[in-house]
Amino acid sequence: MAVSMEEVARLCKARGFVYPSAEIYGGFRSTYDYGPLGVLMLRNVKEAWWRSMVQLRQEVVGLDAAILSSPRIWEASGHLANFTDPLVDCRRCKQRWRWDQLPGAEDGHPSCPNCGASDFTEARPFNLMFKTFVGPVEDEGSVAYLRPETAQGHFVNFANVLQTEHLRPPFGIAQMGKSFRNEITPGNFVFRTREFEQMELEYFVPPDEADRWLEYWCNERLEWYVRLGIPREMLRLRAHTPEELSHYSSGTFDVEFAFPWGWGELEGIANRTDYDLKAHAKASGQVLEFSDPATGERYVPYVIEPAAGATRTMMAFIIAAYSSDEVGGEPRTVLRLHPRLAPYQVAVLPLSKKDVLVPVAKEVLQLLQPVAMCDYDDTRSIGRRYRRQDEIGTPLCVTVDFATLQDRAVTIRDRDTTEQVRVPIDELVEAVSARLSW
Ligand code: GAP
Repeated sequence: MAVSMEEVARLCKARGFVYPSAEIYGGFRSTYDYGPLGVLMLRNVKEAWWRSMVQLRQEVVGLDAAILSSPRIWEASGHLANFTDPLVDCRRCKQRWRWDQLPGAEDGHPSCPNCGASDFTEARPFNLMFKTFVGPVEDEGSVAYLRPETAQGHFVNFANVLQTEHLRPPFGIAQMGKSFRNEITPGNFVFRTREFEQMELEYFVPPDEADRWLEYWCNERLEWYVRLGIPREMLRLRAHTPEELSHYSSGTFDVEFAFPWGWGELEGIANRTDYDLKAHAKASGQVLEFSDPATGERYVPYVIEPAAGATRTMMAFIIAAYSSDEVGGEPRTVLRLHPRLAPYQVAVLPLSKKDVLVPVAKEVLQLLQPVAMCDYDDTRSIGRRYRRQDEIGTPLCVTVDFATLQDRAVTIRDRDTTEQVRVPIDELVEAVSARLSW
């Protein structure tokens, strides 16, 4: 049976993945904090993305642009004018909603989720960018915006990157980090929040190759989710309708995931054409084009953009990995996370807290720490400790028992099969590395 969002949120809080933010003050409007396990897993999600997008490619380089930057960027990019959602007020209860997300909106019969009325004000555009002031004076001249996408940093640094990297299309600039949107209706746990993390590649291609690269990136990105453990049947590619397209896109496909409430977007893969480079060239007066030193050919590349959400994707990986079964007649919850994504890859568990086991358990921990993120737990019964590690998705437990003192061997327990094998400490690093099979 599919897991509910309530259960995912419960597990995330109970086990230290994600906490409601400012909970001691009653929470703060759909914002969340990432706890000890959440930071590990989110890093792993981003690391897996970086590895596949940058590390394993020769033609992609990284970037980390400022979150707060010139408002001229957002004026030129069209976000000031166009990055809006349709806002309506319910005339009966005065609540505000995003028009296209009201129940029944798709059939033309929307109703208020709060009071059920169908009497709304005319929809008006609401800009999603957070506005702030830079410096000590709060006037029009000091207005700045928190970036609503990591993209744009890639475009405004296009000439800088080309100058230092000697790249020629097709090539990419990758960036991950925080983005901010003043969403009208955040919700579904970390699916839609006002502060979130994105992982975005801007891939610059010759204009006549754009269609081919759009198809290439749709396939690549779909495969990435599958390789990291999401069953293929929980994913689909969906083309945007012309009405859905962003102001910069000539064609977009969403990678969608089967969330407990239905299909939802994990990533958008768009053909941004030469929209952004041309817009910034015009607004800044700078030349933003590729010039081929061999042929003298000059042109403005098209951009294919796979844009994924890191926080949203982390939740999808947890949902896809969530399962329940029975071990020895006892029910258990197990997160069958890919070892690359699991917060801990190994837990070192001395069978008892007795002093005689501690030195050898610590020795085992120190052996494994350089090759894997390790947890160390010597509290409670071994059964309860196994159950905790299953629930947080740790692929391997290494148990140190009293026999270890005689035979210098430990037990490796596999999360998915619960099978146990005895391995000499001298061969442990090799045995663990082979099982995690990066
Ligand atoms: N640069 C293009 C862009 O930002 P997007 O489809 O608006 O495209 C890309 O965003 C991804 O960022 C989405 O597929 C989603 O995973 C994530 N995302 C967008 N808004 C979000 C929000 N409010 N909360 C969490 N994740 C969000």
